[in-house]
Amino acid sequence: MKIKFLGHAGFLIDDLVIDPFLTGNPKAVDKPADIQCKYVLITHDHPDHVGDAFDIAKKNDAVVVGMYEVTAKAEEAGCKTEPMNIGGKIKLGGWEIKMEMAFHSAGVGAPASFIIKKSGKTVYHAGDTCYFMDMERFKEYSIDIAMLPIGDRFTMGAEDAAKACKAIGCKTAIPIHFGTFPFLGQSADTFKKLCSCDCVVFDVGEVKEL
Ligand code: NI
Ligand code: MN
Repeated sequence: MKIKFLGHAGFLIDDLVIDPFLTGNPKAVDKPADIQCKYVLITHDHPDHVGDAFDIAKKNDAVVVGMYEVTAKAEEAGCKTEPMNIGGKIKLGGWEIKMEMAFHSAGVGAPASFIIKKSGKTVYHAGDTCYFMDMERFKEYSIDIAMLPIGDRFTMGAEDAAKACKAIGCKTAIPIHFGTFPFLGQSADTFKKLCSCDCVVFDVGEVKEL
């Protein structure tokens, strides 16, 4: 699976992009016009997650996947959409996409996370969330890669993210949602130290095969 970190909580995974926040992101290196994809997933309606999602979707004629209220906004903006809600799953291209829980706030709808599967690999993108006990239940998904916020203040910090990692039982953890702004944690060092699995830290714009 080819994974590119777009900065903050944004990733391009093969032909699928999640939470692409590029315009107004001081650390972003990609331009929205550079992103090529078929699917655009949005975890929740906050500007640092919706970001450039609608523009990228329109430019690529890609499908926006998100909570019903979020996709209603996308539809108004002229995007093709696949609405869903927590607990539901859909198949798109070679992907199986399940929406799961997250505890946070959101402009419209509610915050969510995604568990996405393709070619036998399972990736959990936690969105913005605290650490919560249902993460133990996520063990059922046999998660290979967990993208976990560690920046504190608006989400889990490093200590709770390390507990989350243990609860989920993921093989690899990718720390996200830090260093973008001065009021977030600036480094992944503490998380890396506490993390019970393989911790892979991406530079913004970096591509890795995982
Ligand atoms: Ni948020
Ligand atoms: Mn956020």
